[in-house]
Amino acid sequence: MLENKKIILGVCGGIAAYKAVELLRLLTKGGADVHVIMTRAAREFVTPLTFQTLSSNPVHTELFNLIEEGAIGHISLADRADLFIVAPATANVIGKIAAGIADDLLTTTVMATKAPVLFAPAMNVNMYSNPIYQENEDKLRRLGYLFEAPVCGSLACGWEGEGKLAAPETIFESAVAALTAKDLAGRTILITAGPTREELDPVRYISNHSSGKMGYALARAARRRGAQVLLISGPTSLPRPDGVKVVSVTSAVEMQREVMARVAECHVVIKAAAVADYRPLMRNSSKIKKQGDSATIELVKNPDILAGLGGMNGGSAPRPFLVGFAAETDSLAENAVKKLSEKNLDMIVANDVSQFDAGFNVDTNRALLVFKDGSSCDCGLMSKDQLAGTILDHVAARLAEH
Ligand code: PMT
Repeated sequence: MLENKKIILGVCGGIAAYKAVELLRLLTKGGADVHVIMTRAAREFVTPLTFQTLSSNPVHTELFNLIEEGAIGHISLADRADLFIVAPATANVIGKIAAGIADDLLTTTVMATKAPVLFAPAMNVNMYSNPIYQENEDKLRRLGYLFEAPVCGSLACGWEGEGKLAAPETIFESAVAALTAKDLAGRTILITAGPTREELDPVRYISNHSSGKMGYALARAARRRGAQVLLISGPTSLPRPDGVKVVSVTSAVEMQREVMARVAECHVVIKAAAVADYRPLMRNSSKIKKQGDSATIELVKNPDILAGLGGMNGGSAPRPFLVGFAAETDSLAENAVKKLSEKNLDMIVANDVSQFDAGFNVDTNRALLVFKDGSSCDCGLMSKDQLAGTILDHVAARLAEH
């Protein structure tokens, strides 16, 4: 995701400096080459050795360092960056940059870089709401600097309120978004994810092993590429993706209702959810008692949401670009082509869910993409994040053609 990206992580002096360690870990795990700059105050909270060990790069601390100036230099560091993150960013550093003061390595490098700069402020709640700070932030925003706002919570200074550093995962997501081309800007994409649950009684249900990982990866990826994302999700334990509107549902009938209520505003629908094909004929209002040695549950067919979308004739709103999934255990390509045609789709993502590293509840997938024009693309084994990127590459390319 961040392969071949050089990121400078500026760390200022604040108790939240320890969270920059977790952010560094996420960035390097994402494939970025991270170079850390620490202010003098930051070194009071965390040692450079921690950042050096985790980044596998020397930590930069001094503006005038004879060895570094010869070999790298602060201007060269600024020039080579794809992205600059300052986390935590203090009121002091933000104020200095807003005023054009460059009196240490961090402020000098931020001012010298042409790369996008993302500030993640953290400070006392009253400092944060102080009009002087707010004016500085507004000025930098107007100049194109990016901000990941702090969140509310109990602060190290004893106060309660806005000023807590955003979660490292949230800053990471903004960093990836800042480095991603916005080829889906202006598009609204509806994604379904997770399983449905079809209740038998208040304590039992019929469901499947979908974790929601595939659909959530698509939602995050679409958001990064500038789309407005509506995620209609069955029950999962995954965190809600930042910047995505999430609608939670339980059953297939509920999912159908929420999809149909929103489809008119969407350019693309991607159905990664594993929808139960059948539901119990009856839902008992009280727990079904154990009786006899066997039991029979009568099932009725659920609506096929995707087939319903494929059958839309457009009406006043044009039919969205439809991407279905096919979860197969055999005859992958044949079944995918059959579903593509029967449900009248533009594209189908067929995954062989009999493989241990593909399909349900794993972080990887193996997919065959099949298109309406008969072409196909075998994606092989990749992470669900990577597959989401590949699916959206095809969606963006085909939207651009029309
Ligand atoms: O959630 P994860 O753990 O990450 O797992 C990912 C996944 C395996 C669930 C995902 O990759 C996947 O394959 N999703 C589709 C699962 C499925 O229901 O496949 P299907 O072949 O039964 O259905 C075909 C298509 O019709 C799907 O897009 C499905 O959403 C849709 N459908 C199915 C039945 C129904 N009643 N309504 C539908 O809209």
